[in-house]
Amino acid sequence: MSEQLHPDIEFVLLSEKQIRGIVQDLGAQISKDYEGKSPLFVSVLRGGFVFTADLMRAVTVPCSVDFMAVSSYGDGVKSSGVVQIVKDISTKIEGRHVIIVEDILDTGLTLKYLIGLLEGRHPASVAVATFAVKDIPGCTPAIEPAYVGTHVPNEFVVGYGLDYAERYRNLPFVGVLKPEVYS
Ligand code: IMP
Repeated sequence: MSEQLHPDIEFVLLSEKQIRGIVQDLGAQISKDYEGKSPLFVSVLRGGFVFTADLMRAVTVPCSVDFMAVSSYGDGVKSSGVVQIVKDISTKIEGRHVIIVEDILDTGLTLKYLIGLLEGRHPASVAVATFAVKDIPGCTPAIEPAYVGTHVPNEFVVGYGLDYAERYRNLPFVGVLKPEVYS
C-alpha cells in the first residue's frame, strides 16, 4: 500500500521501515533482559495484535502469547478512563514473567488497571512493552513502561494496529488522521 495515497491520512508519522527498526531494537532488548527465562506476552486487543506479532518474531528467547481484550475508548478519540475486560487470558500466570504488550500509551489508565489485575495473580514479574507513548504536554502517564518503542506527538494516530472507529488498523505505517475524518 502506498503511504501517500490514503485519502484520510494527513501525513505519515512512522514509515514501515522506521517501525521495523523500532521493533527490532525492542526485541533485542527484551531478548537480552529475559535471557534464560520464558516470558509470556499478554497482547492487549485489539490495537496490540500487530505489534505483538512483530515483537514476538523479533525476540529470540522462548516465549508464549495470550490475549486480553479491553475496551477503553469506544468509538471516540478521547479516553473515557473506564476499562472493561472484554476477554481475559486463559494462561495461568502464577510464577511467570509477564510482558503486557500495548499499542499506545496515552493516559496510562488502561495499563495501570491491567497491571493491577495481573499482579493480583502472583506472576514472577510484570513489565509493559508499548509500541508508542503519546507525549501530552503537562500530563504524566499513570505508569512507566519498561519498554517504549517510540514517542508520538499529541495527535490522533492510526495504522499499525491503531484504529479510529475500528478502521485503519491494517495500514502498515502510523499516520495522523485528517481532523475532518473524526470531527
Ligand atoms: P490510555 O488508557 O489513555 O493510555 O489509552 C490507551 C488506549 O487508547 C490505547 O490502547 C488505544 O487503544 C487508545 N488510543 C490512545 N490514543 C490513540 C490514538 O492516537 N489512536 C488510536 N487509539 C488510541
